[in-house]
Amino acid sequence: LSPEIIFDPYASLYSEATGRGLPFIGGLPPESLVAVMDSVLSGGINEAFQYCETEGRDALKSQLVKVMAQEGLDSEPEHILVTTGSQQALDLLARTFLDPGDIVLTEGPTYVGALAAFRPALPRIITVPLDDLGIRTDVLRELLERPEIDPKFIYVVPNFQNPAGVTMNSRRRRELLDLAVEHDLLILEDNPYGLLRFEGEPLPPLKASDPRRVIYIGTLSKIVSPGIRVGWVFAPDPIIERLSTLKQSADLCSSSLNQMFAEEYLRRGLYEKNLVNLRDIYRSRRDVMLKSLEKHFPAEAHWTNPQGGLFIWVTLPEYLDSAKMLPMAIDRKVAFVPGSAFYPDGSGANRIRLNFSFPPEEKIAWGIETLGKVVRKEMDLYRSLGLDNP
Ligand SMILES: Cc1ncc(COP(=O)(O)O)c(C=O)c1O
Repeated sequence: LSPEIIFDPYASLYSEATGRGLPFIGGLPPESLVAVMDSVLSGGINEAFQYCETEGRDALKSQLVKVMAQEGLDSEPEHILVTTGSQQALDLLARTFLDPGDIVLTEGPTYVGALAAFRPALPRIITVPLDDLGIRTDVLRELLERPEIDPKFIYVVPNFQNPAGVTMNSRRRRELLDLAVEHDLLILEDNPYGLLRFEGEPLPPLKASDPRRVIYIGTLSKIVSPGIRVGWVFAPDPIIERLSTLKQSADLCSSSLNQMFAEEYLRRGLYEKNLVNLRDIYRSRRDVMLKSLEKHFPAEAHWTNPQGGLFIWVTLPEYLDSAKMLPMAIDRKVAFVPGSAFYPDGSGANRIRLNFSFPPEEKIAWGIETLGKVVRKEMDLYRSLGLDNP
């Protein structure tokens, strides 16, 4: 299988463990990356090729403080743990907080990699539905009022959510924070895409409003590169200490070379430069995808309109099963992630996640036209068999 257009390259593997959407990494001239690496190697081979502190290099943490400040978040290097991608943060947090049978709340749908990180601890994962304004806090309120629901934490992706692309509005943020106080609930705020906003007003992270109750997870994957595997957790001291002990047994420390690359990349201001680039590229790609969906998808389908990030979430007629359509799409060299991957109970079969960050505009237009044909063909088949009534 080598799909020419790949809305999510991992979709062709169709595995729950592979929920990532590829960022576009061609936004900066390769020479600038070579120059960064050159300067790292010429400045300190001994450090770059040596182990470093489990918590991460101080110089990198000082740069990450500046990244979080761009989101309106005040932090200190000593409350940061550098992780090997934010995926490791999710794994360490699951191992810190969860025992078999514990309740975890997530948005429904939610990031498939978070489900994968939580599952080995054998928790009971309960989803709270999302709409275009973010997590349904009315449903969350009802859930938390039930005495048997005593969650260890709630996991949310407030900005340009993966997979739905929606952003939690300020009212829902406030309501979530209020409910967390009322029910003494810990919040895991995963924010890989927050700065990739290409439209609308930025909203402050949850962590900025309640530093004690919110554990913040960040990553350089979506704006610098997923290949360097640099993520982090910003949390109160006792949590950082506990995570750090666990990280020691996981990998001793994250790569010193990669951390130094990230330090230098950030120090040179390339992060901001690439961010400006990516916002423009992603806005245009999103627009092409939205326009193509409007033109080629059936009237019965609807989709989200993200103001940033990487994904559009499409809802098809209820009777369709997107996983069954995937092989047909791949035959035509188009791939997507079926919606059921993003729910712990396998629901969401009539939904699909599309990634607009990776393919160029012409491939997006062609890919959506092709996918539209696959969807219509499947709908015709169901209609002809009288199976289109749920
Ligand atoms: C919501 C979310 N969290 C975490 C990750 C993990 O990213 P990484 O481990 O590359 O930092 C991803 C990657 O797609 C993601 O979408």
